[in-house]
This record gives sequence, C-alpha cells and structure tokens, in this order.
Amino acid sequence: MANDSKKKEYRFDTKKLRAGYDPKEHNYAVSPPIYQTTSFDFRDVEHAKALFGLRELGNLYTRVGNPTVAVLEQRVAALDGASGAIALASGMAAISYTLLNVAEGGGRILTSPYLYGGSTDSFKKVYPKFGIHFDYAKNLENPEKLAEEIKPDTKAIYVESISNPSGVLLDIDAIAEVAHAHGIPLIVDNTVATPYLYNPIAHGADIVVYSATKGLTGHGNVIAGLVLESGKFNWQSDKFPHFSEKLYTLRDIHENNRSYLEVFPEFPFTARIRFNYLNYFGAALSPFDAYLVLIGLETLSERVAKQVKNAEILAEYLKNHKYVEWVRYPGLKESPYYELAKRDFPKGAGGLLAFGFKGTTAQREAFLDAVELFKYHVNIGDARSLIVNSPQTTHSELEPDEKKIADIPENLIRISAGLEDPEDLIADLEQAFEKAYV
Ligand SMILES: Cc1ncc(COP(=O)(O)O)c(C=O)c1O
Repeated sequence: MANDSKKKEYRFDTKKLRAGYDPKEHNYAVSPPIYQTTSFDFRDVEHAKALFGLRELGNLYTRVGNPTVAVLEQRVAALDGASGAIALASGMAAISYTLLNVAEGGGRILTSPYLYGGSTDSFKKVYPKFGIHFDYAKNLENPEKLAEEIKPDTKAIYVESISNPSGVLLDIDAIAEVAHAHGIPLIVDNTVATPYLYNPIAHGADIVVYSATKGLTGHGNVIAGLVLESGKFNWQSDKFPHFSEKLYTLRDIHENNRSYLEVFPEFPFTARIRFNYLNYFGAALSPFDAYLVLIGLETLSERVAKQVKNAEILAEYLKNHKYVEWVRYPGLKESPYYELAKRDFPKGAGGLLAFGFKGTTAQREAFLDAVELFKYHVNIGDARSLIVNSPQTTHSELEPDEKKIADIPENLIRISAGLEDPEDLIADLEQAFEKAYV
C-alpha cells in the first residue's frame, strides 16, 4: 500500500487512519512502530555533515525528531491541511513555543479573554517577564473595532475556536481578515473542537495549536501537544526579523549562512520551533506517547461524533432542570452562538458544555461529591464523561475581575461528554442533584 498522504488526497476519515505512514518503509508493520531510541547512527561522515547542516532532513536525535513522532506530525498536518507540524510534550509547550516564536524579542499579543485558565494565567505571570505582553480584545465580534486594538508592536491575535469552559464561538474568518490586513498572524487553539469539527486553517488561521491530551487522543492517558502552520503567512516583514536572520547553523555547502525562510520556505514557523525551541528548551514528545496519540486518532471522528450527540442530549436535559440556572452549549437553539455553530460547525458544536448550578456553594459541592459515573477531574475530551467546577479548579488562578472578563461565574460546572449511554449519564446527574438538595 502506498503512503496515502503522498499519493492522493483522501478524505478525513481515511487520513486519520493512514496519512503519514507507509508500512513498506517500516517492515510492513500495520501499526506504526514505536522507535524507542535516543539516537540514529550516521551512515558516514558525509551523512552527519548533511544532517547537521540541515541540508538533509533525517533522524539524528529523538529530542528534535523521531520516526514515530514524525508519523503523528504528518498525520495531524494532513487532517488540518497544514504545510508543517511539530509535536511537543504538552499543549502548554505548544502554546509557549508558538508565542515565543512569534513575539521573540518582545511585543504584544491581542488575545481573546475566553481561554483555558492556564493560558490566561501564564499570559499574565510568565510572558511579560520575557517582554511579551497581552491585551484582552474587547471587540472580537466587531472586526472594524478590533482593528483599532492592534498596536504597532502587536505580533499576533490569539483565540480558541471553541472556548474552554464556556463554549464561546468566534467568527474566525473575520478575525483572520483583520489580522492579515495588519500583517500579523492569527493563532487558534483548536483543542476543544479537534480537526474533526473545525479546520482553523480553512477559516484563515495561520498557526493552530493543540493540546493533544484532550479529544485528539481521547483516552485520558497521555500529555501531548502540537503546533501546525498554514504555510501562507508572510514572515518576511520587519515585525518578524528572526525568520530572515541568516544563521551559521543553516549554512549551505558553500558556507553561506541562510535563514529559516530560505531553508524551510514551506514551513518556516514549525521548523524554527523544532531547531530553536524544541532543540534548546527540550519539551520533546516521547515516541511511546506519540504512538498513543496515533492510536487515539484512529477513532477521532467516531468518538467526537458520539460526544457531540451526548453533549446535545445533556444540554437539552439540563436546560429545563429545576436546579439549573443556565446552560452554555453553542449547539443549543437558545445559545448566542447557535447561528455561528450552524455555519462553521456543521458536524456539531463539540462535547463540552457548562451549566450554572442553582443553589448554595454547599449544595454545589454536595452535587459534585455525589456524582458516580461522571469522573470529577480537570481533563476534557476523554472517552469517559467528566465533570468539574472550573472556577474553583481549572480556572482557579484567575482573580475575580479576570473571571468577570472571561465570563466564568462562580456557579459554573463544566461537563465533557464521553461515550457512555446518555440515559446512564442523565440518571447519574439526577441522583446527584437529588442528594445535593435533601
Ligand atoms: C484549550 C486548552 N489548551 C491548552 C491546554 C493545555 O494543554 P496540556 O494540558 O496538554 O498542556 C488545555 C488544558 O486543559 C486546554 O484546555
């Protein structure tokens, strides 16, 4: 069998199983082998020279590349229509290497306030110490006004396609247009949506980041991340001089120094992450963990489709419940994002939903202590259904005014729908509500 990704353009479900892997190149192994090795022998001295000069791309040392990890990178790149991808040891590594790579040397990022709490908190605490500052966008729904928020030293716009935990959707096409009109890239965290539900590059994103820990793998057994690039953004501008910087390590055979843009014109962003940040900051994904992500990806569509179904059923059940104040799920007709969900998420608005618990803090806590089938923990996108009080856990770092900007009320409870029978899930919530209200 040919390597599907090389021969012709297959559809999504074929690619999620086959892209980036040719069994012929791996002893006809059906399942991608785990290359559990630190290093790879050089054929000879010329080979070593070519690899170190980046004149030939090949396996050298697992910190910067590994055949199992490469299958994962090529597979997700195929799913997202990306020109390049890099897998990393966590979603946070994917986000941090991306932000450093885009705003190296200092600058500003215009960011959505509707984000995973770890992202928001790191934007406040970590990056300013490296000269990278964040502005919360106030006009994400109004592109003309959003343009006014871009400052001379703004280096990128950063958003989540479906926000964690509130399921905020944005008009990514319109935001991308504003970014491009100002010569800056749009970075989209597509973790909650997964490439099955949403393709950010097709909607104008330049960089896509994933926590593969969540729905991409879907079994709650690995921490992993990915960065992808569209290959369309012009990194040549004065805002991003580091992509044109000529480096000795990228020299040609005549000893002429070259830049990332010269050596990797199709994927300068991820190449620079690989040979700069991954190489020297070192958040490498292990081959075994890459293998687990690949196995999870094989059932991505089937899992996410069922999670969407279960989320829709749970949202309908909760919206009429006497102990529920409100429900946030973009797939609900009552949601302010319903029209956008219909337009941009034809396969469904994801497996994540949130509701406002009606009652005292003690009742809310008793409810969480009473769930049996739902797992009470911080992850999302697992095959098992998960529940958590986000404001007190995953978003607990946020100060009260930040929670207000991020629109995360204290009584918010987040659900990540799994693959169980929905009747069992509803019965579990029902018995927990009853116990909380005795
Ligand atoms: C939307 C989103 N992005 C990024 C991350 C960070 O990913 P990781 O835990 O793999 O570092 C998370 C984690 O919860 C997340 O929800």
